[in-house]
Amino acid sequence: MPSPIIDLAGLTLEVNHLERGVRFYSDVLGLNLRRFDPDSGVAVLEVIPHQTLTLWQPITRQHNDPQLAVLGARGASHLHYAWQVAADDFEGCTARLDAHGVHWQRIELGTPERPDPGLYFFDPFGHGLEIRGVDLQDQRRPRLLPRRPSGKGHSLPIAGLREIALAFGDYPAMTRRLPRAYGFALASEQDDRNFAQFTLGPQPEQDGNGTPRRWLYAWDPQVGLAGMLGGDHALAHFYADVPEVRRSAGTEGLPLRELDGGRLAVRDPDGHVFVFQPLPPELEDPA
Ligand SMILES: [Fe+2]
Repeated sequence: MPSPIIDLAGLTLEVNHLERGVRFYSDVLGLNLRRFDPDSGVAVLEVIPHQTLTLWQPITRQHNDPQLAVLGARGASHLHYAWQVAADDFEGCTARLDAHGVHWQRIELGTPERPDPGLYFFDPFGHGLEIRGVDLQDQRRPRLLPRRPSGKGHSLPIAGLREIALAFGDYPAMTRRLPRAYGFALASEQDDRNFAQFTLGPQPEQDGNGTPRRWLYAWDPQVGLAGMLGGDHALAHFYADVPEVRRSAGTEGLPLRELDGGRLAVRDPDGHVFVFQPLPPELEDPA
């Protein structure tokens, strides 16, 4: 049966200074600010159309999203995640990071025949970021196509979110639960460490080699490549076949919450909250 997960819609990060977060993500990453609400400590930035990054400065006795309060949704206090850039924009990214005074590390993830480098750096709050090149002509097509930005020549030419990496305290239980309770498509596991790759799409696919697909990586608590940590109590949004996820998560007995717009929120036993939402009508396949 195909996975009901369609694509990555967004991610929420906890920050200790909202304005500094907006500055970093607007200037260095080039994201456009769509909502700035200092009273609730929330800023929403657009990555590409229909994909967002939310910054949340936690305020005592206040929730980032009142609809999610009953599930105790937070945002990740630390997390590793990755961005897409067009493959031929990749090499120019180091000079732009240098110009912003951001220290970076380059790690080769491909092979001598087919290089696939990653650039790793940290935001001002300790979240671990990565840049990966995407082959825009690749036949593996996510529903939200990576899109090269126009303007903001001093910023990184971000074309989409690529991956999020979450930590799970009970790794074996996670590898059973994520496919069963939500339908995430398990693509592979590594031999040498607890590291599972889930394809955010209908079928498990092979990662790497410039794929434009999006990914959920799930680890046990560990320091990964370039000193990056998996996320704690993350809040992540996915486009999905919501009725299908409701059925499987309900069968699993997980705490659910119906949200407006046909969305469904589920609190995972590891403390992450996943929001599953239908595709916006303009992205639906024409009948
Ligand atoms: Fe990564």
